[in-house]
Amino acid sequence: MDEKEKLKKEILEKVSNYYFKVHAKKEFTPGKTRINYAGRVFDEKEMVAAADSLLDFYLTLGKNGKEFEEKLSKTLGLSYSVLTNSGSSANLLAVSALCSLQYHSNLMPGDEVITAAAGFPTTVNPILQNNLVPVFVDSEIGSYNLDPSKIEDAISSKTKAIMFAHTLGNPADMDEIMRIAKKHNLIVVEDCCDALGSTFDNRPCGIFGSLATFSFYPAHHITMGEGGAISGNSKLLDKILRSLRDWGRSCWCDPGKSNTCGVRFEFKIAGIPYDHKYMYDNIGYNLKPLDLQAAIGVKQLDKLPTFVQKRKDNFKLLLKEFKKFDEYFILPTWHKKADPAWFGFPITIKPNAGIKLVELQKFLEDNLIESRRLFSGNMTRQPAYRQSKFRISGKLENADMIMANSMFLGVYPGISKEMINYTVEKFSEFLHK
Ligand SMILES: Cc1ncc(COP(=O)(O)O)c(C=O)c1O
Repeated sequence: MDEKEKLKKEILEKVSNYYFKVHAKKEFTPGKTRINYAGRVFDEKEMVAAADSLLDFYLTLGKNGKEFEEKLSKTLGLSYSVLTNSGSSANLLAVSALCSLQYHSNLMPGDEVITAAAGFPTTVNPILQNNLVPVFVDSEIGSYNLDPSKIEDAISSKTKAIMFAHTLGNPADMDEIMRIAKKHNLIVVEDCCDALGSTFDNRPCGIFGSLATFSFYPAHHITMGEGGAISGNSKLLDKILRSLRDWGRSCWCDPGKSNTCGVRFEFKIAGIPYDHKYMYDNIGYNLKPLDLQAAIGVKQLDKLPTFVQKRKDNFKLLLKEFKKFDEYFILPTWHKKADPAWFGFPITIKPNAGIKLVELQKFLEDNLIESRRLFSGNMTRQPAYRQSKFRISGKLENADMIMANSMFLGVYPGISKEMINYTVEKFSEFLHK
């Protein structure tokens, strides 16, 4: 071992020790420790991997990015994954790729994309950002997924795609959605940002449509601080996605590399001999994460099975306990073929339950228990969209009900049985049970 390697080993050992000194011990004192709804769950492996990558100081996406992309694809059973700097960027790239002139059946401005009104805004924003028209349909109460029985009524001659999220990790009815998509020749994009590890009919969410997107923000099943990915099987879309992610360029050299194609100086644009490195096939962005983020992601992905199991266990315990509150709340439901890796534990206050959601959330906050609304609620009511061009199909009664009366609790692996018991105790207190 030379001097440099010795020094590196010493630094990484110190980083590991730092983890055990500073981050490892997590004690819970009821009423004193905050129960977050989500958070980063890591050990010394992530910290050492990040420090190792920092010492390399390559910074831009490189070997860790490649390893993460390959590992994620293998986990999903898909042929490629493209890393991005967020789940929102992944959604933006997915829709932009479908609009690319390089894509054989590219979506055109004014084409319609069916989506759920109740969900996360950046599932829908890329539709608007690409000058497409979102067509909002209602969701189901209980599963909180886009209601598949409402999709066919929403289809017009302009409808080209369905893009939706598996809400809170709960797989949508993929039998029905894929049947409709096939029948009407629609492209399907699955937003799996909350659903990494969820399966439908024993197959991972994300495998059914043309593209699947993921988020690695700390609230999600694995994290790299900020991060996301798009996965799929189409070689053409892989190429377009990478081009769009990397400035729209035609060149596919890795960062820091030149002339991977071997004919870099033999291209012409409009008859002008030109450098392939600066040739553009797409109107792109730069949405890459750092290689250091990917280094963390590689270690997190190893933990996915245990993280998923803990989420399922926490959900199961909450469901068992909440059965005693079922006169007040509609409890979560899921499709018989679904095995959700839950993102959260959603509940909806029943009509006439005599509870105000804001009061319940305030009471929980006062007792250091975090809760969250189902993201935007009925998105069409959010101020940002007041001048947007969209279409509403049917009524959005459930989306309104979700907006007024639904919330979710955390189930992430950082939540212990003691925390769940304390949460349930506080619910009993609030409900005077
Ligand atoms: C369903 C869904 N899609 C997209 C996103 C956006 O992911 P990110 O925060 O990584 O941009 C989120 C974020 O939580 C989400 O829940």
